[in-house]
Amino acid sequence: MDTILSLHSRLAYVVLIVLVLAVLNAFWGVFGNRSFGTKDLRLSLFGLIFSHIQLLLGIITYFVSPYFSAWESGMGAVMKDATLRLFLVEHPTTNILAIVLITMGWSLHKKAANDRKKFFRIAIFYTLGTLLLISRIPWAQWP
Ligand code: HEM
Repeated sequence: MDTILSLHSRLAYVVLIVLVLAVLNAFWGVFGNRSFGTKDLRLSLFGLIFSHIQLLLGIITYFVSPYFSAWESGMGAVMKDATLRLFLVEHPTTNILAIVLITMGWSLHKKAANDRKKFFRIAIFYTLGTLLLISRIPWAQWP
């Protein structure tokens, strides 16, 4: 159980760093008018893969976390407590939405007609996803 929690906690560094790099690289592509090469593809793909692994780990973390048993006290009790609401409701739902956006960005970049559009779609969707993730990180206890 501790292994899963600590993996989820550590992988968060990797996910955030790779996503920020992918976002910066995509904006550099849009404004620098570069062609979309193998390195650009790999960086965006790593962002996608790491966030998906983190999603799976997050789902397992949810059920093994000590917070989970708080549901026994009912929905009202969870929603009234800011910490419980963050871990049991806001962090999971926002992060799932963030990863949906990142996945959409990845799929849409593949359908883009030119390199500038590829960078643009990655830039927009990955930025939105990353901002959502950052907005619901439990900063009070991490890092
Ligand atoms: C890319 C997406 C995600 C990132 C970057 C992320 C990041 C984090 C971080 C940094 C923590 C704090 C770890 C610590 O205290 O050391 C955490 C805790 C937690 N995460 Fe996530 N998370 C993500 C997705 C998810 C998802 C999708 C779920 C559930 C479906 C989830 C469930 C949890 C739970 C329950 C905790 C609290 C664990 C505990 O302290 O008992 N996470 N997450």
